[in-house]
Amino acid sequence: MNSEQIGKIISEMTLEEKAGLCSGEDFWHTKGIERLGIPQMMVSDGPHGLRKQDMEADHLGVNDSIKAVCFPAGCGAATSFNRDLIYEMGRILGSECVSEGVGVLLGPAVNIKRSPLCGRNFEYYSEDPYLASEIASSHINGVQSRGVGTSIKHFAANSQETRRMSVDEEIDERALHEIYLRVFEGAVRKSKPWTVMSSYNKVNGKYVGENYELMTEELRDKWGFDGFVMSDWGAVGDRIEGLKAGLDLEMPASHGVRDKLIAKAVQNGDLEEAVLDRACERILDIVFRSQDTDGKKIDFLEDHEKAAWIAEETVVLLKNDENILPLKKDAKIAFIGKYAEEPRFQGGGSSHINCIKVTSALDALKDMGISVGYARGFEDSEDIIDEKLEREAIEAAVKADVAVIFAGLPDAFESEGFDRSHMRMPDCQNHLIKEIAKNQPNTVVVLHNGSPVEMPWADDVKGILEAYLGGEAIGKAVCRILFGEVNPSAKLAETFPYRLEDNPSFLTGFGSGDHVRFAEGIFVGYRYYDKKKMNVRFPFGYGLSYTTFEYSDLRVSSEKINENDTLKVTVDVTNTGKTTGKEIVQLYVSDPDSTEIRPVKELKGFEKLYLEPGETKTAEFILDRHAFAHYEPRIKDWYVESGEFEILIGKSSRDIVFKKTVTVNSDRKLPVTYTSDTTFGDMFDDPKAMEIVRPLIDEYIKGIIGAGSESAAEAISQEMTDSMLRYLPIHAILSFSAEAISVERIEETVRKLNGIEK
Ligand code: BGC
Repeated sequence: MNSEQIGKIISEMTLEEKAGLCSGEDFWHTKGIERLGIPQMMVSDGPHGLRKQDMEADHLGVNDSIKAVCFPAGCGAATSFNRDLIYEMGRILGSECVSEGVGVLLGPAVNIKRSPLCGRNFEYYSEDPYLASEIASSHINGVQSRGVGTSIKHFAANSQETRRMSVDEEIDERALHEIYLRVFEGAVRKSKPWTVMSSYNKVNGKYVGENYELMTEELRDKWGFDGFVMSDWGAVGDRIEGLKAGLDLEMPASHGVRDKLIAKAVQNGDLEEAVLDRACERILDIVFRSQDTDGKKIDFLEDHEKAAWIAEETVVLLKNDENILPLKKDAKIAFIGKYAEEPRFQGGGSSHINCIKVTSALDALKDMGISVGYARGFEDSEDIIDEKLEREAIEAAVKADVAVIFAGLPDAFESEGFDRSHMRMPDCQNHLIKEIAKNQPNTVVVLHNGSPVEMPWADDVKGILEAYLGGEAIGKAVCRILFGEVNPSAKLAETFPYRLEDNPSFLTGFGSGDHVRFAEGIFVGYRYYDKKKMNVRFPFGYGLSYTTFEYSDLRVSSEKINENDTLKVTVDVTNTGKTTGKEIVQLYVSDPDSTEIRPVKELKGFEKLYLEPGETKTAEFILDRHAFAHYEPRIKDWYVESGEFEILIGKSSRDIVFKKTVTVNSDRKLPVTYTSDTTFGDMFDDPKAMEIVRPLIDEYIKGIIGAGSESAAEAISQEMTDSMLRYLPIHAILSFSAEAISVERIEETVRKLNGIEK
């Protein structure tokens, strides 16, 4: 339906109908208006499976939804670093939506992992905005390729569950734009999601759902978003302010209450009807767009197999001493731990899927024709060590040649709705792993968790496989990796610090009362650990393979570019081992000479290459100005500072193999206003300004060394003068110029300075 047709429908709607269209019919539908041919549209969670509720509705994962397939959660999707794979996962999810008549799938959830403790980290992608936005774009493009909408959420900075509906987050301008908004900006610009979900929290004193700067100026005017914004469930305060700011649809239903408020506001002139019309237009555009699908029924069971195939690329091999993995199929192996039998594969809350089928590691082994010993080892209780289960587990481990322990975080430890209070695994599991490692030198740990855990036993075991919450078929993916049918190819999308206290958000945490200050600013994740030169347990971008890769021949298309040019960077990668494998090549950019405070380096590109043994392929990256820019509050925009930048190619954020310097030239100048507080140092680079202040400088030097003392003047080197002047404000000349300078002269100098054409 085109905009003219939509305009015509709106012109036929009553005020009450228009107001009504701006809130849900019920928990999961928009309103339909039969007489005008406006259908209802169903929305469903999301993000990594279809949670369509036909019966009792809720947004906390309490009541059941229809049976569907649970794919790897966001924490795993991001570790794949594979755009095509996540596109495919999105496409499958989109087809499931078509099959079930769902118009918008509520996701992806892209908030930045500021703290490892955020209860929803399992759903989110990364601590890095570039990686998260690239993965989000692939997901969005995949789902939307099937004629189904997405709702990128939770816009913005919903990086904690603690008081999520009332917390006010104080975030400095650069951190807000470079980290917390950047992930949305990248995905919106690249993949045009049909809808955006506004978050519950406040940012810098204002609820996001009432924030014109965020929902209109940034999202629409700057990034070009052209769909509608819906509230998170219940994230509506002042409905009229919300509409004015760009919050089009309230979800779920307001039971008519706020519809009446809207109509009244129009009647008494508090709300322009045009604002209401605009919201209706945006909603109708998507509602009609969502009707245009083929409606094909699909077989969820087939998708279960695809979920296993996707999960294979999300499992990260963290440790593999003495090549303990892959295991030999005929070795004597003991599987230990409850999660071998009942894997923890998804998180709790609104993303909880009612699975069609679950494949555990033990199920998978049966299908693979491999037999192993098994001991349950622990229950989910936190501190209580079940001595009997532990004893049985140690016995099983000792009898075998290799023990594989399936451990991680229980459901009660991480979920939507609350944050974790510590980063530890349950004591009973840590104890079990330690005891087994003492008795069995060949121990491997497989982890099922949605975000980093402390690993006090990491040095005692030979292998660690991070399976995250890998969806309903994770057992199959893990076993295929354990036994070498699949070569692991995922890398961490977040840093694993040694301890919680190492994390940059630790000091201010989730705040006090309803206020939290993101005091670490732009230094989130590896940006912080790198700057502090801190050792971490496992760095961002790290992951092992059963084969080895060698990088060679880093090339750049030019060593000098203008900021609006693109730069092509290529590097060759060879599989030097005996096994076919995939390598994630990472490109970071560093601005070592910046006059601004910047991270040591930032991820600006990644490519995943599939390589047969002995094969060489070229990874190619195209960088544009965003790769070099930082957010500049003075111009409220991204800004490239002219100068040298380093292009770093790495196997991980801590394994940089090549470096090349390029010069980027920017024509844009920053506005400068001079005052009598401006320091001389701030004018050093501006020859015109220096010419104007030169007489003042001469008086200053005379003032401090005494007029006519030539030998003293000669003794002062340029360097000394510079360091004396660098932090000296213009007005201070008065005190040191032996009365030769007047206030009027200073004022006149400042006037002249501001007259410089820049
Ligand atoms: C969650 C959203 C979800 C919505 C609907 C909210 O509580 O924050 O992510 O899409 O519920 O279930």
